[in-house]
Amino acid sequence: MTQFPLVEPDIGRNRSLMTGQKITAEAIRAMKGRGERIAALTAYDFPMTRLLDEAGIPLILVGDSLGMVVLGYPDTTHVTLAEMEHHVRAVARAKPRALLAADLPYHSYQTVQDAVANAIRLVAAGADAVKAEGGREILPQIRAILDHGIPFFGHLGMLPQHVLEEGGYHVKGKNEPEHQALLADADTLVEAGAFAIVLELVAPRVAGEVTRRLPIPTIGIGAGPDCDGQILVTPDLLGLLPWYSLKHVKPRLNAAEQMRTVVQQWKEAVEKSHAS
Ligand code: KIV
Repeated sequence: MTQFPLVEPDIGRNRSLMTGQKITAEAIRAMKGRGERIAALTAYDFPMTRLLDEAGIPLILVGDSLGMVVLGYPDTTHVTLAEMEHHVRAVARAKPRALLAADLPYHSYQTVQDAVANAIRLVAAGADAVKAEGGREILPQIRAILDHGIPFFGHLGMLPQHVLEEGGYHVKGKNEPEHQALLADADTLVEAGAFAIVLELVAPRVAGEVTRRLPIPTIGIGAGPDCDGQILVTPDLLGLLPWYSLKHVKPRLNAAEQMRTVVQQWKEAVEKSHAS
């Protein structure tokens, strides 16, 4: 049987396949002080993680966008912790040099006990850090996760796990109460000890203000150019999901169309070939 050299046998469990030091949460935080922009992407499986790591992406997120872009759910509220663990394990097998963050999924951090137990499960599956959506309302959970030595990645602005209550994906920070709430939540995450914060669908002027105000990096998605970094859902960047389009992403590849063409050409070649 063919042996595929997927993982070099001499690579130890804690060593990266990429050369260089493993990137830590502290290293991501320090990029802001040096004025270095942070390009982050999502991954859900082994090969994509290797490709992103080989391309030098310093921060890889196993996002609960998994639910929509891989598992076919209508939104992220259907994603379970077991599904997240399964994909975190696959991603971690690539042993990326990048910091590997994973989302705590819907309803997995409603209490401090759940937040800690489930963050520990994601770390046991291979995550280096966890992300959860919200600010002041989840402060006890964030503190408890950090007290257990698990680096915490914040997420403010449009919170996809609240899409059903909110009735859609709406830009945040356009009015004064939302603007003030974002500033207060961002300050709370910094004081708690988050190493970075995703700002999703935040009015660009407010995202810029939050970015200038905070000592830790902001990583924007649909939040304008003035964040310390940007994150995208990788299949959106690659044009793998042609069934919808998003205002904040211009696909840089038409992977879906290229895949269809290659598959059709191969199918026709098989159908035309003769048995020898
Ligand atoms: O789930 C996800 O992929 C995310 C990113 C969009 C930041 O949270």
